[in-house]
Amino acid sequence: MAIDRTNSSAPAPAVPERSADSAHTVLLNRIRAKQARVGVIGLGYVGLPLAVEFADAGLTVTPVDLDVTKVDSVRRGISYIPDVPHSRLARLVEAGRLDASTDFSVLAGADAISICVPTPLRKTKDPDLSYVVAAVEQVAKYLRAGQLVVLESTTYPGTTEEVVRPMLERGGLVAGRDFFLAFSPERVDPANPEWHTGNTPKVVGGIDPASTDVAAALYQQIVATIVPVSSTGVAEMVKLLENTFRAVNIGLVNELALMCQQMNINVWEVIDAARTKPFGFMPFYPGPGLGGHCIPIDPFYLSWKARQSGFESRFIELAGHVNASMPRHVVERIGEALNSAGKPIRGSRVHLYGMAYKGNVGDYRESPAIDIARLLVQRGAIVSYSDPHVPEVDDHGFEMRATSEAGALEAGIDCAVIVTDHRAFDYDRLVQRAPLIVDTRNALKGRNHDHIFRL
Ligand SMILES: NC(=O)c1ccc[n+]([C@@H]2O[C@H](COP(=O)([O-])OP(=O)(O)OC[C@H]3O[C@@H](n4cnc5c(N)ncnc54)[C@H](O)[C@@H]3O)[C@@H](O)[C@H]2O)c1
Repeated sequence: MAIDRTNSSAPAPAVPERSADSAHTVLLNRIRAKQARVGVIGLGYVGLPLAVEFADAGLTVTPVDLDVTKVDSVRRGISYIPDVPHSRLARLVEAGRLDASTDFSVLAGADAISICVPTPLRKTKDPDLSYVVAAVEQVAKYLRAGQLVVLESTTYPGTTEEVVRPMLERGGLVAGRDFFLAFSPERVDPANPEWHTGNTPKVVGGIDPASTDVAAALYQQIVATIVPVSSTGVAEMVKLLENTFRAVNIGLVNELALMCQQMNINVWEVIDAARTKPFGFMPFYPGPGLGGHCIPIDPFYLSWKARQSGFESRFIELAGHVNASMPRHVVERIGEALNSAGKPIRGSRVHLYGMAYKGNVGDYRESPAIDIARLLVQRGAIVSYSDPHVPEVDDHGFEMRATSEAGALEAGIDCAVIVTDHRAFDYDRLVQRAPLIVDTRNALKGRNHDHIFRL
């Protein structure tokens, strides 16, 4: 059952009876009185907004990161995350509510510690928990009785119990008896104007009811609706279900796009009509491939864990295969477009609109634009790109600087490719000036010209 802090009659999760002065009561009281100090480890896309929310709610926050540049920037009140305005961060820093550090010893003074470090994949597509392990080692060093530790990094079911708990207990303190331990997945959707931390329900699962209870109380300070679940494993699995659901449905619709192209049917029109069904259908859209830090990665955390228990997750593998083939398909489409004008890919000037993995953000991690650019360069194309949010890209040896859209069109190009549907692009000018356009996002919806090729 969800807890709604706007509804005071909402039931709290079941907690065993404890004495009034127990660590549980003490921590709950400190949180509710806004006297609790919160340590946030990792000041990235997840950690910085979280730290700011806690500080804005009246708690004192001491975030820690290994990255000196980020810590310096936060201390000066300068935000590097678009969803966190400078003014908001600066106000909290000035008020002494938020003081970033590279020194993990500040964790000793924290009542609650939230871990928000990366969980990437290794080249072999196995989980890379090295960041989590490094962060937990630091927490273990400064752990004291009465603290709450929450892992927020997306990971496979079992991580909190099998990896984090034993590391924290090594010093002699016991989870559930001496300190509280929970998992609570982050659901931030960068640049989403409607759903933000405060109005996005938050799932919380502790190693025992008391851990769930204190973790729920902590997040109730910043989130309207808390969804307590019965274990850390359930909470870990919830996040992977959410992202696997997206990856599989995007895989399905990408395959449908390839099928529709073969049958000369506009897949976008099909989806727009299908979504008028008021029940039992949810639209997903095809695109140039998955990107970002979550959808291309998280499902493989699940399939890896499933394999460890002798279970083969076929949907995840199949969707991964279809989604990974999309950049290559886009390059084929570019080849078809150029071919229609009697041009080869080799020597053609191809200009990419967008390097970010999705519209209106500056994050290019795992972006399909990088794969498309690499494939085009391998085939001899002269590649350039525009992206108001990504002035330059540096990804595993692939380096490029953005040029202006107007400048590229002025200088002359053979084909433009809409890879990211940023609002800031001038699509009218593009349609007027580019000789050929491959639109992988249906950004030119409703414009039907012979020089526009859709996915
Ligand atoms: N970005 C998203 O939209 C999003 C959404 C939901 C969940 N997540 C998950 O949240 C977690 C964090 O993602 P992110 O996007 O914020 O990552 P990020 O790369 O933006 O930030 C991670 C931060 O952690 C720091 N860091 C790494 N190791 C550290 C250590 N040992 N000690 C202290 N700091 C350390 C890095 O310097 C970096 O600043 C990941 O598990 C990710 O899958 C991300």
